[in-house]
Amino acid sequence: MTAIRIDGNALAAKVRERIAADVVQLKARGITPGLAVVLVGDDPASQVYVRNKAAACAKVGMHSVIHRLAAETSEAELLLCIDALNNDATIHGILVQLPLPKQIAEKRVLEAVAVQKDVDGFHAENVGALMIGEPRFVSCTPAGCMEMLKDIGMSDLRGKHAVVVGRSNIVGKPMAMLLLHANATVTICHSGTKDLAAQCRQADVLVAAVGKPRFITADMVKPGAVVIDVGINRLPESEGGKLVGDVDFAAVSEVAGYLTPVPGGVGPMTITMLLQNTLVAANLAAT
Ligand code: GUN
Repeated sequence: MTAIRIDGNALAAKVRERIAADVVQLKARGITPGLAVVLVGDDPASQVYVRNKAAACAKVGMHSVIHRLAAETSEAELLLCIDALNNDATIHGILVQLPLPKQIAEKRVLEAVAVQKDVDGFHAENVGALMIGEPRFVSCTPAGCMEMLKDIGMSDLRGKHAVVVGRSNIVGKPMAMLLLHANATVTICHSGTKDLAAQCRQADVLVAAVGKPRFITADMVKPGAVVIDVGINRLPESEGGKLVGDVDFAAVSEVAGYLTPVPGGVGPMTITMLLQNTLVAANLAAT
């Protein structure tokens, strides 16, 4: 079997066209959706992500600002910046790029973002809303994965077994919840899981979010399964230095029914969902 490649770039382009059209409508009512991205420190990967997010905003006609703060910024200074953005009427969405430097408590910062501007969906109130099945802002990466499933006709997963490998607050946990709301039977696997391969082989939908290059091998995949690769890992220069996912793409292609590539899979959908959430936030502010 050769898996069908789910093209994240193509799907992202389609969704962004719709978002751009909605932005035009909002602008006609005098509202330009605005996103503020806050970056503390100079982590090279975060610099790239933040630049890409701002560029994506511009392409759909949204306003965006990047607040770059020094690595030694105190928690109090960062909280002041967030407070100003919470009170800025031109800003509808606020994203604080993670990870934060050690001197700053991530939880306090994420809780400081106004719930109605929390386009990352990281505030406890938004996490709770997802948990009880009344999602408002949902973490962008899992939301993007669900759009990909919808696009291949798998929006209802009744009778299907979904396995999520990874239990982070950003991806694993919200992903499992979204799959559950789509009626899948869900298993969450992690570093403490016994016989991970056997668990993964149960999956009709397998989501890999572990952050380990080519961790999911062909023997861990049920023939015909849908495999969603959330990982973005840079190989060492000695191995070519390229970006790879958490899935051994070439080998798993021979077993899976559908597979997302890295790059060009989940990544573009994550940013698209950020734009979508910013649009929702701007609409909320407009009503
Ligand atoms: N760092 C890695 N992924 C993310 C994300 O989705 N949002 C934020 N704010 N930081 C991240």
